[in-house]
Amino acid sequence: MTAPKFTPRVFSGIKPSGGLTLGNYLGAIKRWVGMQGPDFETIYCVVDMHAITVWQDPEDLRNGTREIAAGMIASGIDPTKSILFNQSQVAAHAELGWIFNCVSRVGWMNRMTQFKDKAGANAEKVSLGLYAYPSLMAADILLYHATHVPVGEDQKQHVELTRDIASKFNHDFKEEFFPLTEPVIDGPATRVMNLRDGTKKMSKSGESDMERINMLDDADKIAKKFKKAKTDPEPLSETLDGLKDRPEARNLVDIYAALSDQTPEAVISEYAGAQWGRFKPALADLAVSKLAPISDEMKRLMDDPAEIDSQLAKGADKARAIAEPILARAYDIVGFIRA
Ligand code: TYM
Repeated sequence: MTAPKFTPRVFSGIKPSGGLTLGNYLGAIKRWVGMQGPDFETIYCVVDMHAITVWQDPEDLRNGTREIAAGMIASGIDPTKSILFNQSQVAAHAELGWIFNCVSRVGWMNRMTQFKDKAGANAEKVSLGLYAYPSLMAADILLYHATHVPVGEDQKQHVELTRDIASKFNHDFKEEFFPLTEPVIDGPATRVMNLRDGTKKMSKSGESDMERINMLDDADKIAKKFKKAKTDPEPLSETLDGLKDRPEARNLVDIYAALSDQTPEAVISEYAGAQWGRFKPALADLAVSKLAPISDEMKRLMDDPAEIDSQLAKGADKARAIAEPILARAYDIVGFIRA
């Protein structure tokens, strides 16, 4: 339960490692846009400090950070309604991150499935930062006393860990200082799957470009990728139940639902029994109609990097104004002397 003393505040972030995918858009950004408004204060972050947990070419990191910021703005994140910034401009993330490294237990990190997936057999060789990543993520969230974190399904375990870190801090220092943040994982696209293998998540780092839709793909590419998307030979079923063991088919129905703001049930009733030759072109047309205006606007914004940098700097000023008093209070609670 979130204690009522915390104002409803949303925090979420995206790593600037590689470009934006349809998974990032439907699983995160589109939902973030919907949370802007009177119910929440909204804070959205390009988490560049998380990106360097694996090697990033510095120029690519700069460009990637601007691309993600452009993608957020082009999708409808309004810098006058939300705070939009890049993480490294607010030093308090690293500072609270250190405190949380000392609150978190090694055993907690060992349970993180994303670390296990990313490190694989190479666990001795990955950076220490990759291992401690969830603790920095907890700092991102708790530095703002965020009460709600909208993410895709793959981040659920990290947000749950954030609650464990908040609880342990509150318990150890005998003060209900950090909220127990709620993960917000809703809608039809919390786990957009790979177009070539419906059992794997669509990700920016997957080996083939054909397995994902990138937000900067042009109309021809989008159409080609959906046309070649793996499916089974059966037509669409009459009900969602009929897609239970057909992950690729279910994924395309979910993508259609998320893009058209409908439920998967409504999509399946419209296309009950449809052959792929009918459904795939309809999905491609829908995707192009929704994504082309966003990618056009992204390209326009990316033509003026100075303007993006200026938006990020203004956002960072606003973020610091919230974060610094919370960090100062955390320092006092821990027992650090400050002027
Ligand atoms: P990242 O950069 O991998 O992904 C950003 C957001 O996109 C969502 N997402 C997906 N949703 C549905 N289907 C997919 N295939 C898909 N791929 C990605 C992710 O769930 C995420 O919401 N650790 C985070 C970034 C982060 C963060 C935070 C998030 C750092 N600090 C604090 C929330 C709060 C990450 O690597 O996301």
